[in-house]
Amino acid sequence: MKKVLRWGVCGLFVMGVFGMAYAQFAKPEDAIGYRKGAMTLIGHHFSRIGAVVQGKAPFDKGAVAKDAELVATLSTLPWDAFMAPGAEKGQTHLKAEALKDKEGFRAAADATVAETARLSQVAATGDLDVIKTQFGAAGKSCKGCHEKYRTH
Ligand code: HEC
Repeated sequence: MKKVLRWGVCGLFVMGVFGMAYAQFAKPEDAIGYRKGAMTLIGHHFSRIGAVVQGKAPFDKGAVAKDAELVATLSTLPWDAFMAPGAEKGQTHLKAEALKDKEGFRAAADATVAETARLSQVAATGDLDVIKTQFGAAGKSCKGCHEKYRTH
């Protein structure tokens, strides 16, 4: 009985978390604003790591680890907002095809979630060579989706 209760409570908690992650948007513009905001933040913190990797900024281990952690967290956010009804119309660079290929879009999103999580892990070690390699892999996952599902 105790066990059943515990799983029940656990289930409710999980539903709550998914409920939040599956953000509901009153208007398509809200979904567009949300995902553009998330993407802008991802781009900002990702390019800070990029500057270090390219030797344009000094390597501060703590700063890179923090940026990588932020990118990994932020990368879990925007995907539902791309799939909101009517979200391919309006001020957006999302290709309409993305909504016809939700599985493909999701797979591209999952790749970035996985690669940025890995980047966060390696950034914590402070090994710049490994960070460089993983930054490349993560960047490739961003590009893969942009080429397929973004107008430019
Ligand atoms: C699954 C697809 C997908 C992945 C993965 C993805 N993006 Fe995007 N990104 C998009 C789309 C689509 C847009 C256009 C958003 C819009 O206009 O509604 C966009 C827009 C952007 C923008 C411009 C934001 C704006 O205001 O229009 C930046 C910067 C960006 N992405 C960076 C990144 C980075 C960095 C990564 C990897 C860490 C990444 N993206 C991964 C699909 C993706």
